[in-house]
Amino acid sequence: MTLLALETSCDETSAAVVRDGKILANVVSSQIELHAEYGGVVPELAAREHLRNLLPVAHSALREAGISMNQLDAVAATQGPGLPNALLVGLKAAQAAAFALNKPFIGINHHEAHLYSPWITGTTADFAAFQPNISLIVSGGHTLLVLVSGDLKHRVLGGTIDDAAGECFDKTGKLMGLPYPAGPVIDRLAAEGNPKAYDFPRPLLHEANDDFSFSGLKTSVRYFIRDHPTLLDDRQKVCDLCASVQAAIIEVLVKKTIRAAKRENVRCVTASGGVTCNRGLRRELERACANNGFTLRLADKTLCTDNAGMIGILAERKLLAGLPQPVLDEEIKPGWALA
Ligand code: KG4
Ligand code: ZN
Repeated sequence: MTLLALETSCDETSAAVVRDGKILANVVSSQIELHAEYGGVVPELAAREHLRNLLPVAHSALREAGISMNQLDAVAATQGPGLPNALLVGLKAAQAAAFALNKPFIGINHHEAHLYSPWITGTTADFAAFQPNISLIVSGGHTLLVLVSGDLKHRVLGGTIDDAAGECFDKTGKLMGLPYPAGPVIDRLAAEGNPKAYDFPRPLLHEANDDFSFSGLKTSVRYFIRDHPTLLDDRQKVCDLCASVQAAIIEVLVKKTIRAAKRENVRCVTASGGVTCNRGLRRELERACANNGFTLRLADKTLCTDNAGMIGILAERKLLAGLPQPVLDEEIKPGWALA
């Protein structure tokens, strides 16, 4: 089966061509520079930029894959969650293409695509391996712990009750005067800092649930900076601050993931989403999984941040499994929570 997949849920315009479980092309055009000026994603600008970029991005994915439109068996797009107008651009374009080709259209849940992205190794997906597992999804919009019990069978165990982990990186970075998105910058600066320099709270670490909360950590960083007004003038202290904030976020993510994996009696842990690019998180997950005898499967860094490749791989899998029946006139689902 050959599919074209589109992803426009936030600030990346992406198109991918997938065939028989392999990503043939995965083109991503990032809008980061456009939004950096405003310190965050501006929804209206994101939608207009998707409109401008989607066709060239889709054409280059098809060209790179060496596939023409009439060779496609299906078209997929992210249906939600995401910014409404941004979602509309990709979803309606994919539906129009499917209609013109008289082929099935399938709408995909963005987080479900992140969930299964660690199963794509290199360019090939192996859904059968490593089940059951506990999966940590950490992105700019969500922080989720999910139990994957079988092929396309999963149950959300917990999630963030306020800010997501990526949002915490971005917002605390903004308080430090770092550019948007601050996650990758904090990652770099933290590598030169002392994670024990400053002590920040580890929210919900000892609560007997699988939920996360990061807004209190952000507030404590705000007060810390207010109480140490000259700290941001000293590069080493900024590195120490980044390392300390990052350590607090990572400790909560890793300890709660491992605790859930032990409780659910799985042998494998996976992680995906933009924050999984973080070198400290990757290292700590590797260490904790090795110490506790879990196999770890991290999404490839190129598949951690938003991309249509992961949408296409899941779409093909769902179509092959007959889940769900494709419907051409479905609407966007901006608040579509993973169940
Ligand atoms: O999955 P993603 O591309 O988009 C959403 O679905 O939200 O994740 C974007 C998030 C941003 O908050 C960004 O700061 C964070 O991932 N991020 C990182 C790193 N790279 C991206 N956070 C920490 N360290 C990184 N290296
Ligand atoms: Zn995402």
